[in-house]
Amino acid sequence: MQQKDRDQIIAALQQDVSLELGAIIQYLWHHYLAEGIESPPIIDLFEGLSRSEMKHLEKFSERIVALGGLPPTRIAPVKKGGTLKKMIRDDLGGERNAVVVYKTHIKLAASLGDTTTRLMLEEIVSEEEQHVDLWETTLGLKPGE
Ligand SMILES: [Fe+2]
Ligand SMILES: [Fe+2]
Repeated sequence: MQQKDRDQIIAALQQDVSLELGAIIQYLWHHYLAEGIESPPIIDLFEGLSRSEMKHLEKFSERIVALGGLPPTRIAPVKKGGTLKKMIRDDLGGERNAVVVYKTHIKLAASLGDTTTRLMLEEIVSEEEQHVDLWETTLGLKPGE
């Protein structure tokens, strides 16, 4: 891969790392804040998803380093607090945004012939889609609602 292509991929993955850092912190906050509300199963979901995002963070960061870049510490905006329903709506919004952003990065990796990055992103985006489904089901929404 040419250096300028490599730099484009690194920049895309750095954006992804920031999104994952935001998601991890948002889920952890919701995990702590939901302690005061009812709903133990939801509290466990927040913690479980935070761990899932941590695994994505690791994959993205390792790939950045393999390409010769540095993972950022910049954190995407975090939405926290409010009612349980608001927290879940905010989390659903974050998951939907991640799906959109990662799909554009899949296209970028494909166009530059970076199969390793593309396959990694495809695996992660399929997990984000499961997160979207989970919150849509929890809220009783139909897809896209
Ligand atoms: Fe993630
Ligand atoms: Fe997710």
